[in-house]
Amino acid sequence: MSLPYDFFLSLFLESLILDASLLSNGLDEFEMGYVANEEMEVRREIIRTIISGNTTSLQPNSGQPVMIRGHNICIGWHDERGSDFRAWEWHGHVMTHDEEKGYLLEYIFGDYFERIPERHR
Ligand SMILES: *[C@@H]1O[C@H](CO)[C@@H](O)[C@H](O)[C@H]1NC(C)=O
Repeated sequence: MSLPYDFFLSLFLESLILDASLLSNGLDEFEMGYVANEEMEVRREIIRTIISGNTTSLQPNSGQPVMIRGHNICIGWHDERGSDFRAWEWHGHVMTHDEEKGYLLEYIFGDYFERIPERHR
């Protein structure tokens, strides 16, 4: 089964506007603001590396986390059959501190659809 091209194109475009939507989430609490901001910055750094063409430092699909902005992040990708897109996915944790609850690990994740137009179908 292969999904239509438009499906991946819309995911790709969605990826591009995610930064803007994260910023306008209207999160009031400082800690949530911090986690959302780190999630966005981690995303920005990963995408910058993907676009650079050398993703060695991300150790994708190794199962090993890499340090990004001081957070442990696991990164992988898979090719979407029948499309020009490579689906990148990552997840990890951001540590926060709360007066009452102490240290907490907040789960963060993200994805990005890299367009690979030169690839043969
Ligand atoms: C890619 O980046 C790594 C470090 O992240 C470096 O060791 C390696 O030489 C780079 N490869 C190329 C082809 O530039």
